[in-house]
Amino acid sequence: MLSKKLQEAINEQINMEMWSANLYLSMSLFFAKKGFSGFSSWMKVQSKEEMEHAYSMMDYVIKREGEAIIKSVGDVPNAWASPLDAIESVYKHERHVSELIDKVVDVAAAEKDKASQDFLWGFVREQVEEEASAKDIIDKMKLAGDNGIFYIDAHLGQRK
Ligand SMILES: [Fe+2]
Ligand SMILES: [Fe+2]
Repeated sequence: MLSKKLQEAINEQINMEMWSANLYLSMSLFFAKKGFSGFSSWMKVQSKEEMEHAYSMMDYVIKREGEAIIKSVGDVPNAWASPLDAIESVYKHERHVSELIDKVVDVAAAEKDKASQDFLWGFVREQVEEEASAKDIIDKMKLAGDNGIFYIDAHLGQRK
């Protein structure tokens, strides 16, 4: 059984995962409007992954006889100054999420809940990948410059 404190922390994280899903869906629409179909489809896949994180946390809370709660998800931005600005926002957001997940692990550790720590470490590791993939796109965009961005768009469009 989950402690109330940890249950609350995980529910808050579920809400954040859903907010992230909406943020990336909003970016997907932003890129579609600008004609970057590859970036748009990459962001949509990313949005689905964030929902998968939320589902996985919900399933875990239920499995531990806790109560998962869906709270209202706040508004997300819908415009960015440029494609690079949008991806830099992804990177910044993922670094923020990494800090939040670290804090949920701290709660699990304080509660001496080993199973939850183990479960949450999976997300800690996943954040390393998410930060790295956003950083990789930023690096490529800077190298490619304005004219090379369509190569990156074509590449990102291949993500399933
Ligand atoms: Fe996530
Ligand atoms: Fe993420």
